[in-house]
Amino acid sequence: MGVLKPVLVAVVAVFVYTRVIQYKGDNLPVNFGGTCDEDFQGVVDVFRRNVESGKEPGGAFAVYYQGRPVIDVWGGYADPQSYRPWEENTTTVVFSCSKGMAAILMAKMVEEGLLDYSRLVSDYWPEFGQNGKENVTVEMLISHQAGVPFLDTPLSLRECKINKEKCTAFGYHALTFGLYVDELIERADPQHRDTATLFRELIGEPFGVDFGMNTPRAEFHRTARLQTRSKAQLLMDALTYRRYLTPMSQIVFTPDSMMAKSVAPIVEYAQSTETLNDPAVREVTVSSCSGTGTARGLAKMYGILTNGGTEDGKTILSPNMMKSLATPLLVGKDVVMLTGEQSQLGRGTLYRKNPKGQRCVGHTGFGGQVAIGDLENGLGLSYLTNHLSINGVGDDPRFRDVEEALYETIDRIQKNS
Ligand SMILES: *[C@@H]1O[C@H](CO)[C@@H](O)[C@H](O)[C@H]1NC(C)=O
Ligand SMILES: *[C@@H]1O[C@H](CO)[C@@H](O)[C@H](O)[C@H]1NC(C)=O
Repeated sequence: MGVLKPVLVAVVAVFVYTRVIQYKGDNLPVNFGGTCDEDFQGVVDVFRRNVESGKEPGGAFAVYYQGRPVIDVWGGYADPQSYRPWEENTTTVVFSCSKGMAAILMAKMVEEGLLDYSRLVSDYWPEFGQNGKENVTVEMLISHQAGVPFLDTPLSLRECKINKEKCTAFGYHALTFGLYVDELIERADPQHRDTATLFRELIGEPFGVDFGMNTPRAEFHRTARLQTRSKAQLLMDALTYRRYLTPMSQIVFTPDSMMAKSVAPIVEYAQSTETLNDPAVREVTVSSCSGTGTARGLAKMYGILTNGGTEDGKTILSPNMMKSLATPLLVGKDVVMLTGEQSQLGRGTLYRKNPKGQRCVGHTGFGGQVAIGDLENGLGLSYLTNHLSINGVGDDPRFRDVEEALYETIDRIQKNS
C-alpha cells in the first residue's frame, strides 16, 4: 500500500500537467489569421476557438472544395520559444503525409511512362533483387508498408542516406517506404533526379503546391519549430487514446522487449526537439517522413486530384489513375502496429473514413498531421501542427473538431443545392 499512494499522486500530477498546464503555454497573445468562403465561417470559428483556448498552440487548416480554396487559416505559434507567430506561409514537417505525396508522385511517373506498377523493382534497381526480394514488384513494394506513426521520425537519416549499408542493420520498418521508394524513384527517372527534385519539377512548381520532400536550408526561416512531448506525456496520451497503449507501455515499461528495443533510439529521437529541428537533419530527403509544407499546399494538391486532376490545362493525374489510387489493394494490419486494427492499403496511400463514413484517400502522419482527398465530396483538406501529439492516424482532437464542423457545413451546402 505504501507504494500505491506516491504512484497515484504521480499519475494525477502527470495528468494535470499534460491536460491542463501544458495548454496554458507562455501566455502569449492570441495569434490567428487567414481567409475563408463565407459558407465555411462556422468551421473557421471552431479552429479559432481552439487557438483562443490554447487547445491549438500552433497549426494550420486548409480546405479546397470543388476545385477552389474555401478555408485557409492558421494560428498559434510557429516558435513559442522565440515568440514567432504562425503566419500565412509557415511550413511544418508533415511526417507520414509525405508517403501520400510520394505515392502521388509515383502515380504521376507511371502516367508519364517512367515507372510501371507491375514491373519488378529489380528491373529498375538490379541490386534490390537479392535475398528473396527478386520477385517483388513496384506495386508490392509500395503497398506493403509497415510503420508505427510515432516512429516516423528521422532516425539518423543523414547517416542512412550517406551510408546505405548501415541502414538495413536497424529497424527499417518505419523507414522502409522512404528508403526504398526514394532509391527506386531515382533509378527509374532517366535523369536520375531525387524525390525532392522530381516532386518540385513535376508537381510543386507547375501546380503551385507549397510542399517539398525535405526542408532546404534556404526555406528554414519559415518552418515551424517542432514541439515534442515527453515520455510521461505520451504515456498519459496513450491512456486516453487506447490504440497507442500497447506500443507505448512496452516502450516505457519493458525496455527489453523487441518492440521497445527496435524503437528505443527512434523514440529518444522523437523526444529530442533539438535533433528534430536541426537543419542538417531536416534537409535530408526520406519520403516516409521528411516532407515539409503548408496545409494550403497539401489541401490544394488533393483538392485538384478530387476534382478531375486538372488545373489551368495541366494535369496532375487522370481521373482513372486517381480512382485506382482511391481503391484499396489489400486489407492489412493497421500502420499502428500492435493495435490489432485492420486497415486498407493502397499504392502508397492510406484510407480513412470521413464523418459520413465515406472512404477518403491520402495519408495521415505522426503529430496529428492530415492530408486527405475526399472524392465523394470533391474535397482536399489538410491539418498541420508543430505541437506534435501522439495521434498519428487522423485522431488528433484538434483535427477532429474542425473535420466535424467541416462535414456539417458540407452537408448543409449539399442539402441546400
Ligand atoms: C506567402 O507566399 C505567397 C506566394 O509566394 C506570397 O504572395 C505572399 O506574399 C506570402 N505571404 C507572406 C505573409 O509573406
Ligand atoms: C521468383 O519467381 C520464380 C519464377 O516464378 C521462382 O522460380 C522463384 O523461386 C521466385 N523467387 C522467390 C525468391 O520467390
